[in-house]
Amino acid sequence: MRSYFALCAGAAAVTFALVSQGVAAADADSVPPSSLGATIATQGTAKGIPACASCHGAHGEGQPASGFPRLAGLGEAYFTAQLAAFADGSRPSPVMQPFAKMMSSGERAAVAEYFSSLPPPDGIRNSDTADPLTSDLGAWLATRGRWQQGLPACVQCHGSGGAGVGSVFPPLAGQPASYIEAQLHAWKDGKRAPGPMALMPTVAGKLSDADIDAVAAYYAEQAPASNASK
Ligand code: HEC
Ligand code: HEC
Repeated sequence: MRSYFALCAGAAAVTFALVSQGVAAADADSVPPSSLGATIATQGTAKGIPACASCHGAHGEGQPASGFPRLAGLGEAYFTAQLAAFADGSRPSPVMQPFAKMMSSGERAAVAEYFSSLPPPDGIRNSDTADPLTSDLGAWLATRGRWQQGLPACVQCHGSGGAGVGSVFPPLAGQPASYIEAQLHAWKDGKRAPGPMALMPTVAGKLSDADIDAVAAYYAEQAPASNASK
């Protein structure tokens, strides 16, 4: 076999590879990636990977009763990274590791593209892809942040409702809007000490004047809650 390959040029080797890998590999060559993704999802591959749908649901909706996660609507980059992590063992899973190892990078990209294009179940959407209404800007920044810009939501540190967390993260709820605005501008301008890990100068540096007005107005309207210290 070795001398056969040595004698024949690349074309013969490619043909052999396609034949030995069967239908799925041949498909990889002849159909667009989205169809390859759909084929693997619904039929599996000739190498013996079962249809993803058999565990993850016909529409990638998952099977909560069995603990199989939803795949529909996962971000493509996240999806590909998980398959790579299963394949290299850095994300251990006795079920997914062997499947991920058996997939070529083209096959992984194809299923990632396919599942990320499927609509998530009703009532669930990825908030990062939606644009905030201008009237919602303050609530949006407070509860979701702006990840495109690496800006976490205020609630992630200041707690639900801006109630404050422990002794390090002060409450925002019920502070005067003018006070909140002044503090944020002070950090932007380097006029307030940076505080723990310089978290607030980083946050404030990503806020425009309009953002500051909106988020300050939002927290000024929240009823002060008792400190949720742990
Ligand atoms: C035999 C059942 C089974 C099959 C078939 C299967 N999976 Fe999975 N899959 C699982 C389980 C179980 C997990 C959860 C692994 C864990 O606990 O980390 C998972 C997790 C995943 C995840 C991670 C999801 C997340 O939110 O991080 C991805 C991506 C994935 N599977 C893709 C696929 C693809 C693509 C296929 C088809 C090629 C497939 N799976 C086939 C059982 C299966
Ligand atoms: C990564 C964590 C983190 C995030 C996210 C965060 N903060 Fe802070 N914030 C802090 C810390 C820590 C302090 C205390 C700073 C100090 O000790 O000087 C603080 C303090 C503040 C203060 C001063 C409160 C006071 O009583 O003087 C304001 C105002 C504030 N943050 C507003 C916000 C707003 C608005 C957001 C969202 C746009 C936000 N923060 C997001 C960590 C965070």
